[in-house]
Amino acid sequence: MENIIICNCKQVSYSDIEHALEHHNKMEDVLEVFKDVQRITHCSTGCGGCHDKVLDVISEIMMA
Ligand code: FES
Repeated sequence: MENIIICNCKQVSYSDIEHALEHHNKMEDVLEVFKDVQRITHCSTGCGGCHDKVLDVISEIMMA
């Protein structure tokens, strides 16, 4: 489950996003965090089709 691929183009998994989020706190703006995750993992830099999925995962992890 943790290793499900969220971004197919760049082969970024749920846990990759989780790791990219380690230094963030819950107060940050999700869209800013998204940019950071994108920079670190390169997710959502291909077809862009995973954009909403990535955002969902980020929100889910930040709210956990
Ligand atoms: S699936 Fe993520 S950029 Fe295409």
